[in-house]
Parts: sequence; structure tokens; C-alpha cells
Amino acid sequence: MSINKEQDFGTPASTASSSVTLEIDGFKVTAPAGTSIMRAAASIGIDIPKLCATDSIEPFGSCRLCLVQIEGGRGMPASCTTPVAEGLKVTTQNPRLAEVRRGVMELYISDHPLDCLTCSANGDCELQDMSGAVGLRQVRYNPVTTHLNAVKDESNPYFSFDPSKCIVCSRCVRACEETQGTFALTIDGRGFDSKVSPSQNQAFMDSECVSCGACVQACPTATLMEKSVIDNGQPEHAIVTTCAYCGVGCSFRAEMKGEQVVRMVPHKDGKANHGHSCVKGRFAFGYATHKDRITKPMIRASIKDAWKEVSWEEAINHAASELKRIQAKYGKDSIGGITSSRCTNEETYLVQKLIRAGFGNNNVDTCARVCHSPTGYGLKQTFGESSGTQDFDSVMKADVIMVIGANPTDGHPVFGSQMKKRLRQGAKLIVVDPREIDLVKKSPHVKADYHLKLRPSTNVALINALAHVVVTESLVDEAFVNARCDVASFNKWKTFIADPRHAPEATESITGVPAAALRAAARLYASAGNGAIYYGLGVTEHSQGSTTVIGIANLAMATGNLGRIGVGVNPLRGQNNVQGSCDMGSFPHEFPGYRHVADPKTHQMFESAWQAPLSSEPGLRIPNMFEAALDGSFMGLYCEGEDIAQSDPDIKHVHAALRAMECVIVQDIFLNETAKFAHVFLPGSSFLEKDGTFTNAERRISPVRKVMKPLAGYQDWEVTQMLSNAIGYPMNYSHPSEIMAEIASLTPSFAGVSYEKIDELGSVQWPCNDEAPEGTPIMHTQEFMRDNGKGLFMLTDYVATHEKITPMFPLILTTGRILSQYNVGAQTRRTENVAWHGEDRLEIHPHDAEDRGINNDDWVGIKSRAGETVLRALVSDRVQPGVVYTTFHFPESGANVITTDNSDWATNCPEYKVTAVQVSKVSQSSQWQQDYMAFSERQLELLEQGLNG
Ligand code: SF4
Ligand code: SF4
Ligand code: SF4
Ligand code: FES
Repeated sequence: MSINKEQDFGTPASTASSSVTLEIDGFKVTAPAGTSIMRAAASIGIDIPKLCATDSIEPFGSCRLCLVQIEGGRGMPASCTTPVAEGLKVTTQNPRLAEVRRGVMELYISDHPLDCLTCSANGDCELQDMSGAVGLRQVRYNPVTTHLNAVKDESNPYFSFDPSKCIVCSRCVRACEETQGTFALTIDGRGFDSKVSPSQNQAFMDSECVSCGACVQACPTATLMEKSVIDNGQPEHAIVTTCAYCGVGCSFRAEMKGEQVVRMVPHKDGKANHGHSCVKGRFAFGYATHKDRITKPMIRASIKDAWKEVSWEEAINHAASELKRIQAKYGKDSIGGITSSRCTNEETYLVQKLIRAGFGNNNVDTCARVCHSPTGYGLKQTFGESSGTQDFDSVMKADVIMVIGANPTDGHPVFGSQMKKRLRQGAKLIVVDPREIDLVKKSPHVKADYHLKLRPSTNVALINALAHVVVTESLVDEAFVNARCDVASFNKWKTFIADPRHAPEATESITGVPAAALRAAARLYASAGNGAIYYGLGVTEHSQGSTTVIGIANLAMATGNLGRIGVGVNPLRGQNNVQGSCDMGSFPHEFPGYRHVADPKTHQMFESAWQAPLSSEPGLRIPNMFEAALDGSFMGLYCEGEDIAQSDPDIKHVHAALRAMECVIVQDIFLNETAKFAHVFLPGSSFLEKDGTFTNAERRISPVRKVMKPLAGYQDWEVTQMLSNAIGYPMNYSHPSEIMAEIASLTPSFAGVSYEKIDELGSVQWPCNDEAPEGTPIMHTQEFMRDNGKGLFMLTDYVATHEKITPMFPLILTTGRILSQYNVGAQTRRTENVAWHGEDRLEIHPHDAEDRGINNDDWVGIKSRAGETVLRALVSDRVQPGVVYTTFHFPESGANVITTDNSDWATNCPEYKVTAVQVSKVSQSSQWQQDYMAFSERQLELLEQGLNG
């Protein structure tokens, strides 16, 4: 195999619709107007030497290596900054040009170490390539001063910065600005003294750098270099796959040496990321081969026993016989399964099929229950489809962007960078969030026009107030509503929302948002031209999560902001495959494709395809499974890839439910928190060890490709298949492509999806069928997906949460995530990313901290009605007085010890974002934390005993 480098056209593609024809070295070439001569030449295979240009950033014209001559023109213009023009005759090679280029290279090389043979970039260095290309044979200069002794900066855990090799081309600086939008790098000094500097001459780790890797990618020399390449040498082949972290779904080239991943390089053709990445996907892949991986199946009779390593056959047979025993004793509905949004579509599909067809009930649920289930419900009701409406690129046409309860620069960083690019181009920004996220004013050259800093739990009141302004100030897009929506429902809603109780002046006391700012924000969004809404878990994880989603849909429909590029309602999905796990039928009431289990036609179709009697009764949701376990009626669980013992709310209750079950089967790559309560452990495979697909937040189905053998011998779908066969429901797939073929045959929106098509197009967005054979970037362009094609307005009464502040619990705790960590942290905690975030902290406003005598770094107890935990304080005015905030990436933090069991009325999605708490200074960890640490240590001992025994 070969590494197959991606072609670098030198400058970005032009988006102009008109084209021009010119001649380069005697060859005719037609290119879109605005294309550089360099790019036009590259498109016909003529590579003009270059150093400071690369096609991910705008040209700069500093190195003078790419000079060309134009017939009738003066001098030698730089081909990277000179656009094509009709009839030009360009010469890229002649003796004069060659001489100038050699002169340029001579100057560069005179101040560059000549250690090519031992340099980490040997074989992947553009300086080396250009020296060869221009035929450099000698260096006559011997400068008195050089940069050869410049000191290396090794502070970043993933890449090193060796200024002695820097040619000051500024590609890194421009990548940080244009691609990432962080502006962490500058060229410091002038002339010979100029050098690249992170922030104010700081080390990378002390600077603003967020370790996205864009500068490393752009650097043509060994100056910015992945440490994994320094350690292991250049990769020798590459396989395109998809990041397994967040719902952006970035495409990566896994660059390999045999079965070792040398580096993950963002794929330029990736349609979700266009060659960009964040620190997680780019660098934090080491967990996949971490020593904590468990690669042998294990069983034990009780969670007090040591684990025993067994063969796959024994583990699978034991699991199957336990499940059958439990069903025989407690009834058909006494077992169930939980799928995960970390798994592929094919794995998830198989798990729900096993449960429905093999177990004979619908007791299957997914972690989307605890994040985006209200999105599924709300958008299905109003638009007729449970998904976001746009592709990511649509944001580049938005005039006003409203971000509600989401933190894209931390949670969805690559999309966050794209959004920032659009904002720097001039789009307006409205942020609706209790906390001051980076987009509000911390991102360079980006500032929110309005930050509606609402009180947690008051989203519905705020959305209603925005809609009230739209309706009462005649900002409704009547033409859109009349043509595209259910007008009767609109009229009813209009009367409802126009009621003075929804006026910003009336809701101000509920939301805490000044009426004037709210009115102005509503006017801005409604008269935007293109208004686009992006929202996250700050919307869904509430007792009225579904109501807020419906309210957002109402608002977008009323203002006509749907059905075209630049607008839409866009849920930002947390985990990589949240969209896919929902699409694949992971909810207890729905078959794949969101069709109700009681719908006779669908039911019959699945029964006949799966050759098994199916239940038409919706099964248990995750919280109902816990209740049933404590009641003694739910005794066996198959949990693949999900860590409910850490991620679900009111964790003491979850732990009690898990303890009550007779057989908990966990399939995962690590002995996660849930596995500490398990009786059977089936080792899973990381995304690098399997084939399949993930579906990102824009409905894009992207390939996941095996780059190494599964460490435990089997891919996850194979394990589910073995379990299914062992319980007596036969499955005989030989490759995940066959599973996808079955999904396509049974799911209308996937009818045109196949591995061949994904390979051909790179990725495809559903719906993909006869009407849209190449997929659907933007939904509802002609009509909504509801049966009558019309968007439905629904009433959204604000109902205050039960979770109220009281003198005993006077603060509201809300939660979120941070760039460097991912979800429960099982993966990222096992990487160098802990250098950025090694513990969860409690953000508290200076006033609240002062009232309680709390200083930065103090240990503070956080007590709610559900429990108590202890974290270190971070005094910060990013939170408003009365609100405290934490992340939840470390199990010992016990964030979910304090969250309550309140949940969304429609979907049971937990109300993670609102917990009334008291905070006080303490000197030791909470009782729960002490108990947890003791339990956890004991479980690790039981694991050790098993591994050694
Ligand atoms: S660090 Fe690399 S990209 Fe940046 S100026 Fe130096 S050589 Fe160019
Ligand atoms: S890693 Fe990213 S954020 Fe850091 S300096 Fe490079 S481009 Fe900028
Ligand atoms: S933005 Fe998300 S999908 Fe992209 S590299 Fe980062 S974690 Fe992976
Ligand atoms: S590549 Fe054109 S001036 Fe450097």
C-alpha cells in the first residue's frame, strides 16, 4: 500500500459560477473565475513550486517561489495570488524562472539545518521537495546569524515546535486564523528576526492554542510536527474513516504503519469537516490501544466475585443461558438491551433486532434518551422527521445565527470553527445561554450581538416571548406559513402566542432576560434574510425539553426560516452516532426509520423480514428499566457501548437498579462504571477495529473502516450476532455491508444507501432513495415530511420545573462539556487530553463565592435533594449569580449523584440542566465519593484477581 498523499492545489477553490479559459505551458485550461493560476495549473497536472501556499488557506504571496511569466505582462507575478483571466498565456518553467527559484531556495536553506536524513519530516517535507524541484545544488550564503540554535517548544503533548526549522511562511498563522479561528499565532518581529510566536511569546500550552492541529497540518517543514511521527517515523498507508467522538463526524485519514496508527489527519474531502479537526479526533486516539483495554471475555456469578477470564464460546453461552433462564423465571419482558450512540449504525441495528426478534419484546433504549430524545419527538411532531434540517455548510449562507443551549466551540469544535468563519464574514449572532460561552465574546473577532442570559429552566418562556414579538410586530412570513404550514394550527398558535402573558415584559421576571434585548433579538432573527437556529442539550435536557424543541420549530416556521440553504433548525448532536442510533430503531416504541411498533403495516413487514413474532407493545425506556429492576420484574440487561452507571441521572438509583439485576452483560472496550456491576463482560472493539457507518448531526452517513484487527478478536456486530445465535435467533451476516443492505430494504429514507454508494460519494445524507439518489443536504425544501406535507404549529405553554430554588438549595446547577474531554471521559481520560482538563470543577460567580467564603481552588460540597458531591471551585463571572456550572467527564466527580430524576414530559430525557443546590466550603470528599472510591477500588482488585487467576 502507499500513503497516497492528498493533492494540494495551492489555493482554495473558487466558488464563482462563470469560468475563463487560458493557456498554461501551451495547454488550454478552463477554470472558474477567481481561481489562481497556481490552482488552474495544478488542475491539469502542472505543479508550480510553492512554499507559502496551500489550498486550505488564502494565498499570501510571501515566498516568491511560485513566480510565473505571463505573455505581454510585466515582471514575474506570483501564481498563487494572480487570478486566471481569459486568454492569458502563462509560462511556469524557463531558465529565468528556474534561476530566481533557485535563488529563493538558496536563501531559505542557508538558514535551515541540513539534517534531512535524521529529520522527522524526511519524506514528507515540502522544503525538501522544493529543493529537489528547483534543482538546488549549492548554498553560497553563510549568514553570520542564523536561527539554527532556536529552542524547541515541547509543551504540547501531541506536537512539537522546532523554530530552527521554521521558514516563516506563516501558513501556520493563517491556518490558526482562517481554519480554526483561534488567532493563537503571530509572526513576531520583522525581517530576519521574524519568528512564529504562540500568543505573547508563550509556550504553546500556555497560549490560546486549542491544539486543533491545523497549523501542524499546514506546516510545510518539520517545525510543527506530530510527536507520534517523531517517535514512529513516516506512515506508509492511509485509510479513510470517521471520527468516533462528537456528532460533527469529521472524516480522517488514519495514517498507518502496518497496524499502528501513526497519526490521524483530517481528510480534505470530508464533507463535514473539509480537512479540519479538533484535538480529540486529531490527537486523542491513544485510548484505543491503552493498557486498560480488556481483550478477554469474563464472567462471574456475583459482583462480589472476582472476574474469571473465559473463552468467547463460554462467555456467549453463559450470557445466553442466563438471559433464557431469567425469561423463563420472570417472563418475556424481564430482559432488555441498551444501545449506544458510540456504536455504528450496523451494530445498533443488530442490538435492537436481537431484542425485538430474539428476546421477543421491545425493551430497547439508547443513550439518546438522555440527550436528544426531545429533538426526535419535537421535530417529528412539527416537521414530520426527527432530524436537523440542514447540512453544516448551510451556515455559510446564514445572515443571523441563533445558538440556543449549545457551546459549539467546545462541544462541536470543527463546526464551531465553521460558524466562527461565517460570523467573521459578518453574520449576526444571538446566544441564548445561562452562561457566557466562548462565542459570546471570547473568540477573536466574534462577538454576540445579543446574549440572552436566561435562568436555567426557562427556555420555553424565552422562546414563547421571541415568538410573541414575531406575531405581534407583524414579522410573520405569511407567504411561507400559508403555502407550507397547516394554517389552522398556525391560527390557533397565533392567538395563543399573542397573549400578553408571553410578552417579553411579562416573561422578564421568569427568564431574567431584559425585555428590550429580547425584542431586539427577535426582530433581528425574524428579519434576518436567512435566520438559522443551532441548539444543543441546553434545550433538550429539561422537564420541558420537547416543548422547547417544538417552540423552536414554531419560531422557524413562523419566520419562514426553513426549506432552503442558510436557515433551518439544527440540533447539534453530542456523540458521534446519536442521529444514527435513533434512526436505527433504538427507541422502545419505534422500529428503524421512526415507525411505531404498533403500526400494523410496519409491524408485519418487520415480522416477515425478520422471520420472528414481534411485540406491538412499546417496551421499557431506560428509566423504566431501572424502576422495573427495583420492582423485581426486570432482571437481565445487555448493554453495548453505553455507561449508564456514570451517565444517567440520580446515579444512586441507577446503581441500586443494576445491583438488583441478576445478569448484567456489558460489551465495552474498558471495564467502565457499568461493568463494575456486571456479571458478563464481552470485550468490544474501538472504531479503529471495525467496519460500519456513523450518521452525524447533519444526517450524513459516513464510513467507519477497520484499520487494525480487533484486539479481542471480534468486531462488536459479530459479538451481537454470536449472542443472537446462542439464544436461538439466527443471524448470518458476513460483513456490515449486508446489515446496511437489510436496513436499506426496510427503511424508506435509507432505501438508496449502500456501501458502494458511500464509497463512491464519500458519504451520503439521508433521506437517500429514488427521489434523492445522492442524498438530501437540506430537508423540507418543497414540503414537510408530515403526511399532509404541512408543518404543524403546536402550543407551548410554559410550565415551571418542579426543581425550585429554596433557602436550603438556593443555587441552580447546570452542566456542560469542555473541548478536550468527551462525554463520560472513558476515552479522553485515557489520553494526554487530561493535560487540559484533569478534573471537573465547579464554576461559581464571584458574588456567590464571596457570600460563602469560597476562593478559587477551594474544595466545595454541592448538595441537592438527590445527593452530595465535592469538587474544586473555579470562581468565574462566566456564570451568572445564582447559577453554578460543572462538566461531568470524571466518574469520581459524581455530577449525577446530585442530578434529580426529573425528566422531560414527553420522552423522559433527564433534566440534567437544572438542579437546585447549596454550595459550601468543605475539607473532604462526600460520603458518596468515599463509597464510590472504595467500591471502584474493590472492583479493580476483582478484575486483577481475574486477570492473574
Ligand atoms: S512553523 Fe511551519 S508553517 Fe509556521 S511559519 Fe514556520 S515553517 Fe511556516
Ligand atoms: S493547534 Fe490549532 S489553535 Fe493551536 S496554534 Fe495550531 S492552529 Fe492554532
Ligand atoms: S469536531 Fe468532533 S468529529 Fe470532528 S474531530 Fe473533533 S471530536 Fe471528532
Ligand atoms: S507559494 Fe506563491 S508566493 Fe509562496
